[in-house]
Amino acid sequence: MMKILITGAKGQLGQDCAAVLRNKYDVTAVDVDELDIVSASTVDAAVLSLQPEIIVNCAAFTLVDACESQAEAAWQVNTDGPANLAAAAVKTGARLIHISTDYVFDGKKPVPEAYIESDPTHPVSVYGKSKLAGEERIMGKTDNFIILRTAWLYGLNGKNFIRTILGKVLNEPQTRLRIVNDQYGSPTWSYRLAMQIDRLLTTSARGVYHASSEGYCTWYDLTKALIKALDLSAQVTPCTTEEYPTPAARPRNSILENKHLKSEDLNVMRNWQSDLQEFIKTHGHELTASLTRKTTGAPS
Ligand SMILES: NC(=O)c1ccc[n+]([C@@H]2O[C@H](COP(=O)([O-])OP(=O)(O)OC[C@H]3O[C@@H](n4cnc5c(N)ncnc54)[C@H](OP(=O)(O)O)[C@@H]3O)[C@@H](O)[C@H]2O)c1
Repeated sequence: MMKILITGAKGQLGQDCAAVLRNKYDVTAVDVDELDIVSASTVDAAVLSLQPEIIVNCAAFTLVDACESQAEAAWQVNTDGPANLAAAAVKTGARLIHISTDYVFDGKKPVPEAYIESDPTHPVSVYGKSKLAGEERIMGKTDNFIILRTAWLYGLNGKNFIRTILGKVLNEPQTRLRIVNDQYGSPTWSYRLAMQIDRLLTTSARGVYHASSEGYCTWYDLTKALIKALDLSAQVTPCTTEEYPTPAARPRNSILENKHLKSEDLNVMRNWQSDLQEFIKTHGHELTASLTRKTTGAPS
């Protein structure tokens, strides 16, 4: 049975990957407490002892704003980490599947033109720069890799926009939410991306692939769709990026076209609206229950 090592396995994609791949393969799923990808010697020891055929790197420093003030840590995890995994993969002949991001682009393409894999990169944040450098470090060490650039990830587990917004809607219904309506992207379900990774495992695919949902929307559109799917009511107002300043700059256009997956007939990604519906149908109750603040009765 094929042996797979998943790093960053407690993150939102890592958990979905482990759940999907465990059904079929011999999966070892570890996070930073067991395998810190920043430590080259730890990575070497783990890979040499396990001898996996595939390494799926879901580990990353993903807090985009925090990357601005913790740049050194971001570069270590997002750049040195993938380089360490690539070096270890070369020693054992493993194929490295690494996850990257739409934030390697500057978003200056006019909406709704989508970015394809060969478009020039130009990240505008520390997060984007460190992720791009991670891609380049892998490419400098091996050809035996798949880099999957995804976007706007959400899932049942971990930190994501959907959980943040839903927490506010459920717990502070009187608060009017201002949501950015001039950044465009494709909300992507981490479970669907895990299915895409699964699809690629039994192919000879190598190189850079875009892997995000089909279709696009703004953060405001996503908020409205989420509220509608859960049959909730909330006060939501659209705003501009300038009206909602953040430490890190973000691309206005994050729309990715899965050109290589499609041309190789490997694309399993679906429309963002149908995936959001399915996500809510499957996990809506669990999600709302986990986000609803428990109120304790006043002492009598
Ligand atoms: N989230 C998005 O919207 C988005 C968009 C585009 C691309 N991506 C990419 O998709 C991938 C998966 O993202 P995600 O949302 O699943 O991220 P996530 O939920 O933040 O998971 C990342 C995991 O990596 C762990 N980690 C951090 N430093 C590590 C280290 N030195 N060694 C080993 N593990 C470490 C984290 O642990 P701690 O939580 O303890 O730090 C966390 O469990 C990442 O490559 C990310 O860049 C994400």
